[in-house]
Amino acid sequence: MTAPSAADWAARAQRLADLLAAQGDVHHPAWRSAVAAVPRHVFVPGAYRQDDTGTWQPVDVTSPAGLDLVYSPTTLLTALADRGTHQESLPSSTKPDLMLRMLEALDIHDGHKVLEIGTGTGYNAAVLSHRLGANLVFSVDVDTELVDSARRRLHRIGFRPTLATADGAGGLPGHAPFDRIIATCSVPTVPWAWAEQLCVGGRILVDVKVAPEAGNLVLLYRHPDRLEGRFTTRCGSFMTMRHHHEDAPAPPQPRSEHTRRRTTTIPPHPWWDHRVSRLLAQFQGLPAGVHIGMHLDPDTRQPTASFLSAPDGCWATVRLISSRGHYDLIEGGPTALWDSVERAHQVWLEHEQPDWTRFGLTITRLPVMTCPPMDAVAPPVSGDGGTHLPLRRLPTRYRDAHISLTRSS
Ligand SMILES: C[S@@+](CC[C@H](N)C(=O)[O-])C[C@H]1O[C@@H](n2cnc3c(N)ncnc32)[C@H](O)[C@@H]1O
Repeated sequence: MTAPSAADWAARAQRLADLLAAQGDVHHPAWRSAVAAVPRHVFVPGAYRQDDTGTWQPVDVTSPAGLDLVYSPTTLLTALADRGTHQESLPSSTKPDLMLRMLEALDIHDGHKVLEIGTGTGYNAAVLSHRLGANLVFSVDVDTELVDSARRRLHRIGFRPTLATADGAGGLPGHAPFDRIIATCSVPTVPWAWAEQLCVGGRILVDVKVAPEAGNLVLLYRHPDRLEGRFTTRCGSFMTMRHHHEDAPAPPQPRSEHTRRRTTTIPPHPWWDHRVSRLLAQFQGLPAGVHIGMHLDPDTRQPTASFLSAPDGCWATVRLISSRGHYDLIEGGPTALWDSVERAHQVWLEHEQPDWTRFGLTITRLPVMTCPPMDAVAPPVSGDGGTHLPLRRLPTRYRDAHISLTRSS
């Protein structure tokens, strides 16, 4: 592999910047210049792509086709782990269109100090360094090797932001306060340490997933006593924040053979199409660790049913085809998983099928008052005209942060 010449990559980087501007991902000229100036190929010396069979294949990122891919709005997988039965994708370089939208949503100005959680390849730290000056850019990653590689690449192109190996849940207290925090890994809730390290009036943009697929990017503002803000229309799907010394999940129990049959009028499709319902279901009693999948027809490989399974062996299958609006449902185990989905869907319908932007999060240091059920008349939240949904207990790791879901009236 030979390093691409400046002419090879610079024209492509400029095209990427122009494309992001044309698509409305970038508006500010300074961000556009940053995309055009940062050699993404330096940060992605190797990448993988799935072929038609779903197998990951290495891409020669120095070839013309490889460079086209690097300078495109594509997430690039940069490492794979062989897990015996399957290949697991590891850290990636986030799609530049999403990254730039996030940076613009943070409303970053000259002179702002920015903390990134999840250094990864270092590309985002380079874009930030170009925009603000590296002395105002701070980035942490839990993985020492990633931090070392990112540092080498950043130095190679003349940027020296502050990088640190640390569990980003703790932020970077030695360099606080920050004006903005961007996280490029998802969290089950926002660690209170981030609020403590953010100036009042500062902003955080992070992908909050209270359970797999149950959440979205949320833009939070720092108030004196809390973080508060709304989910964004643009969906993000970042890798989950990992921690050293994480407890291995308990092995799933065998699938319960005690089954019940009934029909449901809640179609399985909204569960897939409207991810808001997935978040609401977490507040309607869905147990932690539920996996969602599809049953496929063995011959046609077409989906035939929606499938939920919980670590305690409970499960539910709902056929995708209805008979006069009634869908066959089979459940196993003591917990009626589909009941939570039905309640969530009902709440969603009763409130005129709200989209993400009508929901927000409030994170406080101390437990917030007991929240009334959604159908009760609830007090407004912070002048936002919102009403609280019931709280959900959080993992003990984040016990000093409390999360509530608000809905505008
Ligand atoms: C999608 S990648 C980040 C992409 C990166 N911003 C870039 O420009 O290439 C997510 C990163 O989050 C990091 N990460 C996961 N858990 C973390 C934690 N607890 N603290 C800090 N970083 C973490 C991963 O190691 C990974 O590098």
